[in-house]
Amino acid sequence: MTASYEIHHHSYDVVVVGAGGSGLRATLGMAEQGLKTACVTKVFPTRSHTVAAQGGIAASLGNMGPDSWQWHMYDTVKGSDWLGDTDAMEYLAREAPKAVYELEHYGVPFSRTEEGKIYQRPFGGHTTEFGEGPPVQRTCAAADRTGHAILHTLYGQSLKNNANFYIEYFATDLIMSEDGQCQGVLAWKLDDGTLHAFNAKMVVLATGGYGRAYFSATSAHTCTGDGGGMVARQCLPLQDMEFVQFHPTGIYGAGCLITEGARGEGGYLTNSEGERFMERYAPTYKDLASRDVVSRCMTMEIREGRGVGKEKDHIFLHLNHLPPETLAERLPGISESARIFAGVDVTREPIPVLPTVHYNMGGIPTNYWGEVLNPTKDNPDAVVPGLMAVGEAGCASVHGANRLGSNSLIDLVVFGRAAAIRAGKVVNPDTPNPALNQASLDAALARFDGLRHAKGTVATAELRLEMQKTMQADAAVFRTDKTLAEGCAKMEAVAAKMDDLSVTDRSLVWNSDLMETLELTNLMPNALATIVSAEARKESRGAHAHEDYPDRNDKTWRKHSLAVVEGQKVALDYRPVHLDPLTTHEEGGIDLKKIAPKARVY
Ligand code: FUM
Repeated sequence: MTASYEIHHHSYDVVVVGAGGSGLRATLGMAEQGLKTACVTKVFPTRSHTVAAQGGIAASLGNMGPDSWQWHMYDTVKGSDWLGDTDAMEYLAREAPKAVYELEHYGVPFSRTEEGKIYQRPFGGHTTEFGEGPPVQRTCAAADRTGHAILHTLYGQSLKNNANFYIEYFATDLIMSEDGQCQGVLAWKLDDGTLHAFNAKMVVLATGGYGRAYFSATSAHTCTGDGGGMVARQCLPLQDMEFVQFHPTGIYGAGCLITEGARGEGGYLTNSEGERFMERYAPTYKDLASRDVVSRCMTMEIREGRGVGKEKDHIFLHLNHLPPETLAERLPGISESARIFAGVDVTREPIPVLPTVHYNMGGIPTNYWGEVLNPTKDNPDAVVPGLMAVGEAGCASVHGANRLGSNSLIDLVVFGRAAAIRAGKVVNPDTPNPALNQASLDAALARFDGLRHAKGTVATAELRLEMQKTMQADAAVFRTDKTLAEGCAKMEAVAAKMDDLSVTDRSLVWNSDLMETLELTNLMPNALATIVSAEARKESRGAHAHEDYPDRNDKTWRKHSLAVVEGQKVALDYRPVHLDPLTTHEEGGIDLKKIAPKARVY
């Protein structure tokens, strides 16, 4: 069967899969060091989902008032609801200012203060004085198009440094050696139908999240968890998948993002009684409490009959009290989105909003260098040689059970950069690449060919919708034993239909039927791992709000979930959270007493 495909072979030191913020930052860092680097991407780099990131990138520059990396680390630990790895969170907060100044020097057109410094705005959960002081202005912004600005700059810099781009190539599977080393990927070139085997000393998965496992998401339709799918097919685990972030302000009906920066600039939420209800739930930080908290409060208001609109099923976000010039200068993008997708003039009317799936805290487990982990009994931090994962695809884990707004863009660049630093140490450009394992390549080809000729009875779009509706209903903002158990049973039945898929287009050139089917084979293990991990976790923590277990239970559950997916079955295991920082207090690191677990109130 495999003989019928001609394979084009490529050999590189490093192959990065994905060209969003983390993929491009990794690509640039690799290429800058002289590593022969390819970036394989299913969409044109500047159309990657990072382009939609609006509000900004967190770093304790202190341009607008006092700030420190220790305060940023504290907020991240608390935001994670004490599930993040302490070493990784320290690395993120310490390296953030350096990574942002690098972006500035690469040419990112940040908004500026009167003195010409990078402009920073408040974002939810970012505070001063270890959560005791007022909100901090820590989120560096390029108006409300920060991701767009970063992506264009990193793409230009990568080209300048001679990175090789394979654009509109869909990576289908990892190629692994017999002894478990990653050797490369198989990719399908969408515009001419050719197949390509990329042999690399290091593969970096930067494929983004899997928001499209849900019915309503701020994520682009391309966010199909391709890296997670590839990893799951190698029987490697996915970590902390039960933690799915709902952004408080997706536009009602359309799901498009209205940045948290809108509340950072002074916007606020009201219910049907015109009440600024966040003052009741989070008296100190109000509308700038962290995202999981705000999303839950909005949901409670709606449940208790205080939603707005005919159906009383959403909430209002007000910006109409802000000066029109602030809206034009700081929030031009969302002003346009509100007009197009909600028919609202933000200078006069509130925007109808609803919590909407936005981000996956879980993903492919890695250390803070981006190296993928395959924990064993003896070594919970065992590394898969030749494989890294960065950005939303990875789980370092800095966001734990809940990510703070603007900690995503900084995660992309800090860990994209860290992966490049690490690759500079472990990849030797002077040695030849070992030959690809033919059996692994054949298996990848056979899977591709099997899906191309799938002759079942279930259309891909139909099954995808069934999955999305099940996830939306049963792995929602609030969860119960009953909804999760039902959701697991439904998802198992949905996943079983993967064996009965029907692909009607057999061609190889721009075959969107086949492409969406391949994407569904990636979404499905991500979705299964999410709901099964959620069903097992008998506590509430961060984005996992379990109504039958309303409290966090550190004694039993301060641990990372690991889900290995085989077909429609998921096997669960756990690994310990890293509790040790990189530096001691005496060495200038954070005082551990400051980040000891406590009740999480805002
Ligand atoms: O609200 C926003 O601008 C989104 C930022 C983020 O998810 O970090």
